[in-house]
Amino acid sequence: MPAIDKCVNLDDLRVIAKKRVPKLIYDFIEGGVDDEDGLVRNEDAFRKRALVPRYMVDVTSKLDQSTELFGRTFSSAWGIAPTGGIGNYRRGGDMMLCRAARDANIPFIMSGASNASMEEMAATAPDHGWYQLYTARDRSIAEDMIRRADDLNIPVLVVTVDVPTGSNRERNRRNGFGRPLKLSLATKLDALRRPFWLKDYMETGIAMCHNWQKYAPPGSNADQVGDFMATQLPNSITWKDVENFRKLWKRPLVLKGVMRVDDAKRAADMGVDGLIVSNHGARQLDRAPSALDVLPAIDAAVGDRMTLMLDGGVRRGSDILVALASGAKFVFMGRPTLYGVVAGGEPGAVKAIGIVREEINKIMAQVGCPVLRDCGPDFLYWDQDGRNARP
Ligand SMILES: Cc1cc2nc3c(=O)[nH]c(=O)nc-3n(C[C@H](O)[C@H](O)[C@H](O)COP(=O)(O)O)c2cc1C
Repeated sequence: MPAIDKCVNLDDLRVIAKKRVPKLIYDFIEGGVDDEDGLVRNEDAFRKRALVPRYMVDVTSKLDQSTELFGRTFSSAWGIAPTGGIGNYRRGGDMMLCRAARDANIPFIMSGASNASMEEMAATAPDHGWYQLYTARDRSIAEDMIRRADDLNIPVLVVTVDVPTGSNRERNRRNGFGRPLKLSLATKLDALRRPFWLKDYMETGIAMCHNWQKYAPPGSNADQVGDFMATQLPNSITWKDVENFRKLWKRPLVLKGVMRVDDAKRAADMGVDGLIVSNHGARQLDRAPSALDVLPAIDAAVGDRMTLMLDGGVRRGSDILVALASGAKFVFMGRPTLYGVVAGGEPGAVKAIGIVREEINKIMAQVGCPVLRDCGPDFLYWDQDGRNARP
C-alpha cells in the first residue's frame, strides 16, 4: 500500500482509498445519480473559472488564512462536510476526522447518519463540532435531537433540506448495496481482497449509528437501528419545520442544500443564519446546477443578511479561492477528506487537511492575496460581457 506521506494532492489519497475498501464502499462514496453528469458539472464549474494574479505584493512576510465564522476564528476558510456511515468505510472514521479538524482549527460537521454520537463529538471538539440534522418522519425524534445538541452546547445546527426522497444511485443498485444487502458473489469476493477493511469488518460488523440508537426498539443491534432509520428517512422537510427548528434552536442555524434565490430569501426572512449552497455532492438530482454557478445570484439577494457557504466539487486550494471570490464566506469538502481518512485513518485526515492548507497558501501567494478574507471578485477573471466562466 503506497504511503500516505508520499501523496502530493487529494487525488493521490483517493487512489489509495479506492484500493483499501471494497468496490461497493468506494462506489457509495464516489458515486452520483443517474448518468453522473452532476459530478462532472460540480468539478467543471471550478475548472471553468480563472483567477487573475496581482503581482508586486508582499506575500513573503505574511500569509493569513484565518477566517471568522459564527463568532469563532478558524485557521482557514474551509471545513469538513457531513458524510454518513463513515464507520463502515473506516472504523472510528467520524472521530478521526473530528479530531483532525479540531487540531487543525477548522469545523467538522457530524452527519445526521454518523456512526459516532454527538455526545462524543461535543466532548472531543466542543468548539469545532457542528451537528447536521436529518429530520425524522417522527418529528419528536428530530426535536429531541435538537434538544440534545442544545444541551451539549453544539455551536451550529445544520439542517439538510435536499433529501426529500431517495435518489437513483445506480452504482449502489448494481452492487446490491441497499437495505437489505443483496451482494453478488463477485462483490463478496472483491471484499475478501481488502484485508485492512475486512479485518475491521470481521471484528465489529456493521457500524452502529449511535445518535439513533435511543429511538430504535430497545436492544436493537446496528443492523436493526439501520432498519429503524429507514422507517424515518428520507422524507421532506417543509418551511413549517424550519420555523419550528428556528424556535427550538437559538444558536446559529444553517440550511444545507438551498439552491434557489426565492428559497434563500424565505430562509433569511425566517431568521436562518446561514446557508450551505449545495447539490449534495451531485448525489440527489443529476440535473441540479453546481453550487458555484448559483451562488452569485443568491449572494446578490441575501449576502448581506446571511452567511453564505458552499460545497460540491472542491478539490484544490485554488477552488477555495474561486468560491470565496464568487461570494462564499466559507467552503466545505465532503469526499476529499473522506479519501484521507479511508486511505490512512487519522494521519490520512491530517494529511488531507495539510494538503489543502499548503495549496491555499501557494495560491494566495501566487495571486497576491496575503490575507484570505480579502479574496473578493476582483481576483476572478471576467470577460468583456462581465461573465466569469467559460460557457
Ligand atoms: C459518502 C457521502 C455521504 C454523505 N452523507 C451526507 C449526510 O449524511 N448528510 C449530508 O447533509 N450530506 C451528506 N453528503 C453530502 C456532503 O455533505 C457534501 O454536500 C458533498 O459531499 C459535497 O461534495 P464533494 O464531495 O464534491 O465535496 C454525503 C456525501 C458523501 C460523498
